[in-house]
Amino acid sequence: MLEKEKEELAYRILDKVKDGDTIGFGSGTTSHIATVKIGEKVKKDNLNITAIPTSKDIEDVCKEYGIKIGNLIENNIDWAFDGADEVDLKHLWLIKGRGKALFKEKLNIISSPITYILVDHTKFVNKLGEKCKVPIEVFPSAMKYVSEELKKLGGEDITYRGFTENNNGILDAKFENITQTLEKDIKAITGVIESGLFLGYNIEIIGGNE
Ligand code: A5P
Repeated sequence: MLEKEKEELAYRILDKVKDGDTIGFGSGTTSHIATVKIGEKVKKDNLNITAIPTSKDIEDVCKEYGIKIGNLIENNIDWAFDGADEVDLKHLWLIKGRGKALFKEKLNIISSPITYILVDHTKFVNKLGEKCKVPIEVFPSAMKYVSEELKKLGGEDITYRGFTENNNGILDAKFENITQTLEKDIKAITGVIESGLFLGYNIEIIGGNE
């Protein structure tokens, strides 16, 4: 059921794929499906596409379909797509990072003029943080210090979830009251590599009633 919905979301970005584009590829199951669909189109129409992938899984799928892998030093992203774990439509705010690839995901989003966020109906919330904790990528030996500092910012029920794609630790913290400044406040803690709060980026939501 959800699989079908995710497939339909993937079809909605297919007509944006143009020969010569450099595209930022996100992570997660919806992005995986979209990557396969784009790959099929690239093969069928013999397109020249460069990908900036955010995870090993997506990089592998791109290679399988003959999509070139670029990087953010030599290539400029024309547009990007990604999934999300929670969407607050009123503010266009997101929580991302359940797939542990949040650092590269944020790098792609800030490097792209526009990022299409593909989200099924389960992702929409009235208030950010309603369903999901905020993932925070942390330099491993700073884990204890960062946990204590997160508590001072209102973080609760802080749990350790293993390692990210970059071999850093990942903590998940519940925040009851997410405000515009929280993303910057978390980032300012020594040892924080990135957080899964995406507040105020150039995104367009694809999904729900959008
Ligand atoms: C990856 O780190 C996440 O930000 C994903 O974009 C997010 O978890 C969405 O994944 P699904 O498409 O699998 O729901």
